[in-house]
Amino acid sequence: MLSIGQVRLPSALVLAPMAGISDMPFRLINRSFWRGLAFTEMISANSLVHGSKKTLKMLSSVADDRPLGVQILGGDPETVRRSVDILSGYDFDIMDFNAACPANKVVSKGKGAALLKEPGRLQQMLSIVVERTQVPVTVKLRTGWDETSVNAVESALRARDAGVKAIFMHGRTRAQRYSGTVDYSIIRKVKESVEIPIIASGDALTPVLISKMFEETGCDGVAVARGALGNPWIFRMTAEHLGGKAAPICPDVREITQTMKEHLALNVAFHGQKAGVMIFRKFFSWYTKGMALKGLKGRAFGAVTWDEMLRLIEEVQVLTTGGECCIPSKHGTRFSEIAALEKKYSGLLKCGIVCERGGEDDV
Ligand SMILES: Cc1cc2nc3c(=O)[nH]c(=O)nc-3n(C[C@H](O)[C@H](O)[C@H](O)COP(=O)(O)O)c2cc1C
Repeated sequence: MLSIGQVRLPSALVLAPMAGISDMPFRLINRSFWRGLAFTEMISANSLVHGSKKTLKMLSSVADDRPLGVQILGGDPETVRRSVDILSGYDFDIMDFNAACPANKVVSKGKGAALLKEPGRLQQMLSIVVERTQVPVTVKLRTGWDETSVNAVESALRARDAGVKAIFMHGRTRAQRYSGTVDYSIIRKVKESVEIPIIASGDALTPVLISKMFEETGCDGVAVARGALGNPWIFRMTAEHLGGKAAPICPDVREITQTMKEHLALNVAFHGQKAGVMIFRKFFSWYTKGMALKGLKGRAFGAVTWDEMLRLIEEVQVLTTGGECCIPSKHGTRFSEIAALEKKYSGLLKCGIVCERGGEDDV
């Protein structure tokens, strides 16, 4: 059983934060195959303090979306302090601080992975977060800035000394960004250096690789990121694999297309039709990875309405199984199906910030 501070987690698998990806629909679709800790998208302390509506919407959650952590990005002590005070008004289970983001626009301002070069400042930021919140604080680290400055153990000791309750350890340097191989040995060294839980990250792309991560590093948990893109079944399959099942059950096309429809409906409910469909385009491609679809993916990138995207999902079913298309007529709209999904997810339409203590906010 993985526990972070007083928070006991139902699974050692965590859905990692991914900027531009980890919105509520994405979290909820993954949660239909597993129960465990998920994260919001990375929240800029600066944007939060300035009351950005886009940032506030990223804090939205519902009762089924638990346990939930929020991840903060910041580099200025006062801004970080104020952002934690704002976030303390919300009902998150964990507060994570990002010292791993490799983006130029982030590190050039002394945030994210730039903090790996300044362990003293990293500790100072973490101490501020720990001091200002009641919930357990975690940190996301990389192994170092580049291969000549691998300092994960020092960063981890600083984090522990600041009062952090668990470490998310991405086994790559900032210079590697998301490429190159993951360094299992440095994650193991970090695990052996601190007594707080280590949740390892990096190439957790299949049940076998996740199992390898546990074995090679001795970590307490594994954070799944790219492996969950268009593949929420990775959680179910990994649980089966770790439980000793020889051949975990892969989803069939019907389960894939049904999940795509649910994900699309969640997107439309949460973001509205225009943005919801647009955001779903990349997921269409991820869900159908490896399928021979005769130009369907290109058409998905041009889809604008919910109905259009639903039809393309139906076509996935037809093209991959050779079955009959159940769309009533060439120009007919899937009214009943849309209406049923709309009803199911209507709560999300007026979601606002339902996880804020004391009620909804109109964002
Ligand atoms: C599109 C994308 C966005 C990401 N955004 C964040 C983020 O906001 N915060 C964070 O800590 N890590 C972020 N990550 C890193 C992942 O959480 C994870 O550590 C990394 O992808 C390594 O895991 P993987 O190789 O299994 O994908 C992001 C990764 C991707 C691919």
